[in-house]
Amino acid sequence: MRRTRFPRLLFLFSFALLSSIPGILSTRFVTLGSIELFNTHEWLPSKPTIYFHCKGENKTILPDVKETNLLYVFKGEESWQPLTELPDKKCKRCGFYEKDILNDDVYDEWELCSDEFVGGESIHFKDNEFNATFICAECAASSGSTHSSISDTKNDGKKSNVVLLIIICLLASVLTALGGVAVYRYWQKRKREQDQMRFLKLFEEGDDIEDELGLGI
Ligand SMILES: *[C@@H]1O[C@H](CO)[C@@H](O)[C@H](O)[C@H]1NC(C)=O
Ligand SMILES: *[C@@H]1O[C@H](CO)[C@@H](O)[C@H](O)[C@H]1NC(C)=O
Repeated sequence: MRRTRFPRLLFLFSFALLSSIPGILSTRFVTLGSIELFNTHEWLPSKPTIYFHCKGENKTILPDVKETNLLYVFKGEESWQPLTELPDKKCKRCGFYEKDILNDDVYDEWELCSDEFVGGESIHFKDNEFNATFICAECAASSGSTHSSISDTKNDGKKSNVVLLIIICLLASVLTALGGVAVYRYWQKRKREQDQMRFLKLFEEGDDIEDELGLGI
């Protein structure tokens, strides 16, 4: 019974691990690299509250961005990062806004897409409003033309396939080793039990022989 249960557990474990790998490989978190405001929409001379928002998601308030004509640079590890996560081959409608008592003012609203990221970086600039850079290391690294973007995504796919293959090979060898150890342990235990049984049997037989001998004498 033990012999069948152990490999099944291993199988379930490896299945869970393998099915989580595509998720790990395809996380495309977008963080804000830098922003510079050229304008506030405040009527009164008060500090603006700027936030980033993608349709259907939570607003991300940029707590430090208050001044115009000042370049704010971020590490990507701030408490409010990342801004959002981009799904594969799907854009999101996002924008920068300024909180207002009545109606929030729009700095700009646009489609945020993976293929805009060149070398993991994308710049969004709007005249008289702002200049912002976004970082997404895992987003497709296209260099402008659709041709190269296609070949790049192909290469990316190949790369992740190779990674997947290596992981599977490693996992398979680990599982084989674990399975071997389990089988060996089981065999050892069986052998010990059989030896014990043979030993006991020998004793019993010995007793029988002694009894017979005792009777015979
Ligand atoms: C949005 O915010 C609410 C409340 O803070 C939280 O429960 C929810 O998980 C958030 N949703 C996302 C997609 O981050
Ligand atoms: C926007 O910001 C980036 C990064 O700081 C800079 O390289 C670029 O020249 C800026 N563009 C404009 C139009 O200000």
